[in-house]
Amino acid sequence: MDLRDARVLLTGASRGLGAAMAREFAARGSHLVLVARSQGPLRALADEVGGTALVADLAEPHQRDGLVARAEAADGRPVDVLVNNAGLVEVGPLAEASAESLARQLAVDLAAPAELIRQALPGMLARGRGHLVTVSSLQSTTPTPGCTAYGASKAALSQLQAILRLELAGTPVRTTLVSPGPVATDLWDDLEGSSYLQPFFRRLRRLGVVATVDPVDLARSVVDAVERDRRHVRAPRRAAGLLWFNEAPRRLVELALRGVRFDE
Ligand SMILES: NC(=O)c1ccc[n+]([C@@H]2O[C@H](COP(=O)([O-])OP(=O)(O)OC[C@H]3O[C@@H](n4cnc5c(N)ncnc54)[C@H](OP(=O)(O)O)[C@@H]3O)[C@@H](O)[C@H]2O)c1
Repeated sequence: MDLRDARVLLTGASRGLGAAMAREFAARGSHLVLVARSQGPLRALADEVGGTALVADLAEPHQRDGLVARAEAADGRPVDVLVNNAGLVEVGPLAEASAESLARQLAVDLAAPAELIRQALPGMLARGRGHLVTVSSLQSTTPTPGCTAYGASKAALSQLQAILRLELAGTPVRTTLVSPGPVATDLWDDLEGSSYLQPFFRRLRRLGVVATVDPVDLARSVVDAVERDRRHVRAPRRAAGLLWFNEAPRRLVELALRGVRFDE
């Protein structure tokens, strides 16, 4: 998609990967509507990139309701690119999690992205233009103890995106799945700092398999992928093989169903 003057709705924009992607989209001429809870950082970034801040808690169903319509009303233009980036992990074994924590993670990590896609898609299909970016994780395929709701949500998001690709075959709406390993942001600091995960990280370090990705580099790869209609962004490179194993059955089904339309 040509990103000059494109309208991008980006969740989880107040820091980390989301803030880096906002700057990268803006550098390519896109106009942004930024969503998160933290009003101060969100407004400051909106001022910096010349976009609009929409403060919302995506864990709250009533704040998700009509969010795409509110973004379009605030901006005066339809959404061309929806980036579902907001994510939340609260580390600990499921046996010790509160009902609220479990529900909050499933809401932010799974229900919110699915709901925003549901809201954005009809308009994109009607206008014949749209791109859906879904930020999943390497944890969609590699299990991490203490991250039950998060990892399960990311696995579901990756499958959601694969099914969506079948539903969208033959339409002009494109998708990009982002599956990063560790990215140097607050979320990663929280994982690394968690006492529950220390034995996990000790073992991974001994095996020499932990490599962090710079959020600015990853943001550039994601925005490149939207510009060039690429379906998958994987980082770091050394983790790509693991993701390929998981993707293989999805690719096979896509191949088997090539040319089949489901909207007739
Ligand atoms: N960092 C990693 O190692 C890593 C690896 C793989 C995938 N990812 C994924 O990358 C994405 C970005 O994460 P990050 O690393 O940039 O984490 P981060 O620095 O913690 O940022 C998370 C973003 O999500 C927003 N968010 C969290 N809860 C929210 C809620 N209830 N309502 C609205 N917004 C909410 C936060 O904003 P507020 O707190 O202001 O609401 C923040 O802008 C996530 O989907 C994450 O799962 C990260």
